[in-house]
Amino acid sequence: MSKATITVLPGDGVGPEVTACALQVLRTVEEKYGHIFTVHRRRVGLDAIAAEGVAISDATFETCAHSDAILFGAIGSLPAGAERPGGPRPEQALFRLRKEFGFFANLRPVRPSESLYGASSLKPEYLKGTDMVFVRELSAGLYYGRLETVPGKPSEIRRTEHGTEAVDTLLYTEEEIERVVRAAFGIAQCRGKKVTSVDKANVLSSSVLWREVVDRVAADHPEVTCEHMLVDACAMRLVRTPAEFDVVVTENLFGDILTDEASMLTGSIGMLPSASLGTRRTAGGLFGLYEPIHGSAPDIAGEDRANPVGAILSAALLLRHSLGLDREAADVEAAVEAVLGEGYRTPDLDEGARAVVGTAEMGRRVVDRLRQP
Ligand code: IPM
Ligand code: MG
Repeated sequence: MSKATITVLPGDGVGPEVTACALQVLRTVEEKYGHIFTVHRRRVGLDAIAAEGVAISDATFETCAHSDAILFGAIGSLPAGAERPGGPRPEQALFRLRKEFGFFANLRPVRPSESLYGASSLKPEYLKGTDMVFVRELSAGLYYGRLETVPGKPSEIRRTEHGTEAVDTLLYTEEEIERVVRAAFGIAQCRGKKVTSVDKANVLSSSVLWREVVDRVAADHPEVTCEHMLVDACAMRLVRTPAEFDVVVTENLFGDILTDEASMLTGSIGMLPSASLGTRRTAGGLFGLYEPIHGSAPDIAGEDRANPVGAILSAALLLRHSLGLDREAADVEAAVEAVLGEGYRTPDLDEGARAVVGTAEMGRRVVDRLRQP
């Protein structure tokens, strides 16, 4: 029996619908295996801005800090024209959680389910054997400087005597590179023993340093094959020879872009889960934040059309990485696989579907499957 505290941040748009399914899955695991999960539900993003005036309140942040894991839905964007200088923006919540909790490694597994090959944008013969995990650097790089403007790390739009200009800074310290690259090699060691490090070393200084650090870490792992790949070539190879990748490690923005691309191999961006991890230990593993990689999809919010699989698989990652419940995680993954295998699909995946179902029914089917011994 395991005891754990989980903070649920459903957020905006389809976030509440998909997290409701993921939470039901966690409750089912709790019951089936006799665990005790204490769940706190809090506001984040536009929802928090509307109710509390900030994207994430200090009180919510504290609740997260005292948990073993955070289950996150999605955050929306401010409507065009609503952004005020110095005013709250929904993304600030994510950036604060990622930065202040030191979640530097964002794991995004991409394993197209055979039953969904027909829904992928690639032909099945290209997909066969595809099973990779992205390790996206998550707490530095081009994204940061945006939270607040640090001297030497500007991110701003500024008026000058020659007109308006804008700047973002791509800064990495050796330590920030090394810790995420070490995480990637650690993961590769337990999988296909291959790391692809993705950069733009023919143009960017930060990538030149990135390569140096990767080579140094690779020397400590002779049993892992290591290759460097330029980010443009990687974008191409992901849709040409996806089965050749095992672990892909890359800079924050490159990882953001490449994982949306890679998600289409699985048939839909709604399929991909993620785990954001740092170094703080819990009783069963590492403190982490778990979220589907998709956004808040305001166009379909409240319509029971969103795909909850990315959120449910994120709950499986939570069980595995923060609670150390491998068997339970595998059980959830098998239940998702079984329901997809039976032909049930949300509307984003309706190719070859036996039945197109809504968000809630998809979640219920996974739960029913999970209840079976
Ligand atoms: C993601 C998202 C976020 C990001 C957005 C919502 C700020 O796209 O987690 O991939 O860019 O990191
Ligand atoms: Mg993204």
